[in-house]
Amino acid sequence: MTETLLEAAAIVKDFPLGRGRHLRAVDHVSFKLKRGEVLGVVGESGSGKSTLARIVARLLPQTEGTVWFDKANLASYSGARFARAKARRDIQMVFQDPLASLNPRWRAAKIIGDPIRRLGTPDEKSNEEKLVAEAAERSGLPVSLLNSFPHQLSGGQRARVDLARAIVMRPKLLILDEPTSALDASLQAHVIQTLMKLRADLDLSYVFVTHDLNLIRLISDRILVMQKGKLVEEGDVDSLFAAPKEAYTRELVAAIPRLGQRRVDRAGRAP
Ligand SMILES: Nc1ncnc2c1ncn2[C@@H]1O[C@H](COP(=O)(O)OP(=O)(O)OP(=O)(O)O)[C@@H](O)[C@H]1O
Ligand SMILES: [Mg+2]
Repeated sequence: MTETLLEAAAIVKDFPLGRGRHLRAVDHVSFKLKRGEVLGVVGESGSGKSTLARIVARLLPQTEGTVWFDKANLASYSGARFARAKARRDIQMVFQDPLASLNPRWRAAKIIGDPIRRLGTPDEKSNEEKLVAEAAERSGLPVSLLNSFPHQLSGGQRARVDLARAIVMRPKLLILDEPTSALDASLQAHVIQTLMKLRADLDLSYVFVTHDLNLIRLISDRILVMQKGKLVEEGDVDSLFAAPKEAYTRELVAAIPRLGQRRVDRAGRAP
């Protein structure tokens, strides 16, 4: 039996709106991720996908609920202790808009090496240059570009810098929040290829947030469907697309013409 890598239990996130009122962005969401699995998270804008992703990545504290990673309850770490804990290295986040998340004054090599300088062992710190070059290579960023600043790179290259930074510590889990939505279709396909190769080479698991149901269908093993902060449907990718149970999921699936087309083709019928 494959082991559970991540488990979220009854996660709630309330954002205060003032005068004692709040917005419940995530409402009692529970799920499990097995080691090696790609878990897709879909849902309309504002459904709480990014909030859930940031909670799991420990970038945002939850209001209620527990996140377990590799059998450890992440909430039981105090801030300082957690910073040194293994989970801090093992869970990395990849963002939607690399230009906003990359320090504009740092060259690519310094950006990619940042986690090593903050969290690395003395051994890793003394090998920073080598580890950065290796991560860049794995991420498809030519090492000749390591001296460039973010604004000197293309969108696709910036996405690869962000990816290299995420894998440089050899994490177990990547939380990817719309990592390719700023890219055009062909660049997106290349980055997705790199992601799938990295997953196999480095034995990674992914939580992959996206609006793009075609993409999620291509890469995920299992899917969570969120609506208004709640988990409305969950299932393995083929059965969820073939026979969505919830009206909301059916709507999402039906709203994607190319996907509708592909379903017909798969069934062997003329469109
Ligand atoms: N820091 C915050 N303070 C207050 N409200 C927030 C904050 N972050 C998110 N929200 C609200 O929480 C809800 C969920 O937002 P979230 O960003 O998680 O949605 P999403 O599913 O990622 O949407 P999108 O697909 O547009 O990225 C939204 O109503 C949003 O306005
Ligand atoms: Mg979002």
